[in-house]
Amino acid sequence: MKRLTSIIVALLFIMGVASIGITAETAGKAEDKCVKCHKKEKAMDKVIEKKKIKTTAELLKAVKEGPKAKLHAKLTDDDIKVAAKELKLAE
Ligand code: HEC
Repeated sequence: MKRLTSIIVALLFIMGVASIGITAETAGKAEDKCVKCHKKEKAMDKVIEKKKIKTTAELLKAVKEGPKAKLHAKLTDDDIKVAAKELKLAE
């Protein structure tokens, strides 16, 4: 019985570590959240060039208040800020 318990504990531990790993992978890379929709001619670098977006504040405004705000409803400020950083926009 003791052995079974230790196997179960070990399994739970491994599953816990794996799920933390998966969460860490999905978090962090915010640009992936944009790239899901922003591909090819809609790629983020092209969008910011066309819309003349130069700063993080302008990006936040364009994403949250722009004509496509509804499509962006699931994105958090942090997602947008990380994307801004990856696009090398000013603060
Ligand atoms: C669910 C799909 C989807 C996701 C996810 C998404 N976008 Fe968009 N976004 C769109 C579509 C569709 C447009 C309109 C593109 C066009 O007009 O050619 C758009 C337009 C934009 C625009 C231009 C807004 C304007 O003024 O017209 C910006 C800036 C933008 N997205 C930024 C982002 C950023 C930054 C992210 C990630 C943090 C993101 N988007 C994630 C679908 C998405």
